[in-house]
Amino acid sequence: MDYILFGLIAYVLGSIPTAVWVGRAKYGIDVREHGSKNAGATNTFRVLGKKAGIVVLSIDIIKGFLAAFLPFVFKVGEWQSDQLITVQILASILAVVGHVFPVFAGFRGGKGVATSLGVIIGIHPPAAGICIGIFLVVFIVSHYVSLGAICAALSFPVSIYFIFGIRSIWLNSFTILLAALVIIAHRKNIQRLLAGNENKMNLFKR
Ligand code: G3P
Repeated sequence: MDYILFGLIAYVLGSIPTAVWVGRAKYGIDVREHGSKNAGATNTFRVLGKKAGIVVLSIDIIKGFLAAFLPFVFKVGEWQSDQLITVQILASILAVVGHVFPVFAGFRGGKGVATSLGVIIGIHPPAAGICIGIFLVVFIVSHYVSLGAICAALSFPVSIYFIFGIRSIWLNSFTILLAALVIIAHRKNIQRLLAGNENKMNLFKR
């Protein structure tokens, strides 16, 4: 029963369409009709500017973090560590699925990057540090947020396995699934990157 409850909470948290609600409430704009048409932090930066972008980025990270961390808060000491991590994994996936397919925004959400970062912070903070580092290096060099996000997503299963030496079928499968979700959500960005017409972003411009 608890599994279903934590899963449901995670999906509902992930489904909070921050970019859509901030855009509509504060600016009267649906970001899904502008820029890349994605309901995420990057497109909010692009369409509505830094302030709105930072708000959306922060809330999207926090909702992922809460989804992954809540089972720990309520069940640590009560559940075996295996059981705990299984529920954290389930909640994490559902939070990202909620972000990409939000029940509160017609199932048209974002690409799961910030929410994935939040769940990674909740499950394995050092791996989150590596993802952020990879993202920053790729983004600063290329000016492509999407390429940074894709490389960061790829680095998650790789670092968990090779750097942190974690060999757990559940955890390793989860890291691969999370990376795959984020990469699949970026399929249009990948096409644009290959075609050479992906949007670049300059952090210091707006
Ligand atoms: O977080 C999504 C980012 O990687 C790409 O966003 O709006 O450029 O498609 P966007």
